[in-house]
Amino acid sequence: MLTPSTQQPRERTKVTLPEVTRMYNDGTKISVITAYDATFARLVDQAGIDMILVGDTVGMVLQGQASTIPVTLEEMAYHVRLVARARPKAMIIGDLPFGSYQVSPQQAVETSIALMKAGAECVKLEGGVSMSETIAAITRVDIPVVGHIGLTPQSIHRMGGYKVQGKRDGFVAGGRERLLEDAHAVEQAGAFAVVLEGIPRDLAQEIRAKLSIPTIGIGAGPDCDGQVLVLHDLLGLSEYSFKFAKAFAAVGDEVVRATAEYAADVRSGAWPDDQHSYH
Ligand code: KIV
Repeated sequence: MLTPSTQQPRERTKVTLPEVTRMYNDGTKISVITAYDATFARLVDQAGIDMILVGDTVGMVLQGQASTIPVTLEEMAYHVRLVARARPKAMIIGDLPFGSYQVSPQQAVETSIALMKAGAECVKLEGGVSMSETIAAITRVDIPVVGHIGLTPQSIHRMGGYKVQGKRDGFVAGGRERLLEDAHAVEQAGAFAVVLEGIPRDLAQEIRAKLSIPTIGIGAGPDCDGQVLVLHDLLGLSEYSFKFAKAFAAVGDEVVRATAEYAADVRSGAWPDDQHSYH
């Protein structure tokens, strides 16, 4: 971001809830990316991202778990703290892990408070109609909430895997009409934005048209008000590729190349050389 008169970088202002709402009202697309530590939080913030999601995908991309289910509140609080230490201008979303909010609205409020104390500036949780009371309880104590409906990874055992939702008509969980109800419920409960994950493009369009809060898509097509991606997918660091995700770089290949060059230089004695030695 350069100002035309001085060509000096313009200081970015902190992204807050009113700023996200302003972007939505202006029709400015909202960019969201996951990050789990201070280094990447600093880098993605430098790139001008609007919101950083400290997602429970940490369980899969950093911990090597098969799903997000095992991630604990203590682990999430730790990663939120790391991201917050980068003091990003991007708004920090703390993800509520499985088992830390489903028991009762009170449990959800306590969990949300824990993540806010760690440095989150809002929280995200999965679920629609069934979570409306919980979302209302969290927003009542002035903690902004991002909803998350569609392919909700914490529900893999009900869904039978990571399956696109809303392809079939019906009011049962994952049905098209049910997802429309979920979206409405999340908005009515007070969420200020909602993630739409793994749903057909035309359903995302319909939900977006019916809501008055920003829709943030991941595998929901280009018509949402913003998009979110997992950092490791975007950088080309992931083991797997997904139809909806784009690797904007091949950082994984670079890591392998640089490490192999380092190992070869160590073995041959080419590194360290005199230039990298103290005298
Ligand atoms: O945890 C996460 O990273 C997420 C995104 C995939 C939306 O919930």
